[in-house]
Amino acid sequence: MAVGGTDLAQRTVDRFQIIHGELHRLENVVTRFLQLAGPPSLSLVPLSVNKLIGHTCELLRPQAEERGIDLAVEFGDTLPEVQADADQLTQAFINLVINALQAASKGGHVVVRTAAHENDVTVEFADDGYGIATENQERIFEPYFTTKAAGSGLGLWITQQIVHAHGGTLRVESVSGKGATFILTLPVRLPHG
Ligand SMILES: Nc1ncnc2c1ncn2[C@@H]1O[C@H](COP(=O)(O)OP(=O)(O)OP(=O)(O)O)[C@@H](O)[C@H]1O
Ligand SMILES: [Mg+2]
Repeated sequence: MAVGGTDLAQRTVDRFQIIHGELHRLENVVTRFLQLAGPPSLSLVPLSVNKLIGHTCELLRPQAEERGIDLAVEFGDTLPEVQADADQLTQAFINLVINALQAASKGGHVVVRTAAHENDVTVEFADDGYGIATENQERIFEPYFTTKAAGSGLGLWITQQIVHAHGGTLRVESVSGKGATFILTLPVRLPHG
């Protein structure tokens, strides 16, 4: 009887572990589906891009160190605040920094630069990694386009959706083998005032 009880307890623990794993997997499936379902709805508040970039880079600094990559931030002076959704915009920044870290080699460099212009704020994510072949430069923004063995190809697509939802733009400049720079702009005032 006691032995049977222990068996039952063990089997229950095993099954809970399976259920837990499956819940986690389904959560990922649903999250991806929602991300594909349409542009994100935003809760806009006045935000400091420098603050969000500072936070993003501190979050990813351990990953940079682990890979032996120098992650530097150059904060522009007197940046006006932008109307933005902090969670969504941080997600966009994280995706771009992670891509840059994944592209750079050990001993390589990633620089994130912010700047203020007349009507917008720009953030540049520059790396000296493997770069992007000219024929792929348009395709990288398509959902599911990836050149990575374990990539989903959704990172840049989601990033672009978020940036567009903020009325901003995202483009890339790259020479294959010589790194890539992603340039993100955010309007200081929303188009509809
Ligand atoms: N900084 C970069 N340098 C070189 N290639 C890049 C860079 N950023 C993106 N790419 C290219 O664009 C492709 C698409 O990027 P995206 O972030 O959408 O997906 P992923 O990184 O492959 O997968 P995931 O983001 O889901 O992990 C990458 O597979 C890579 O080929
Ligand atoms: Mg990515």
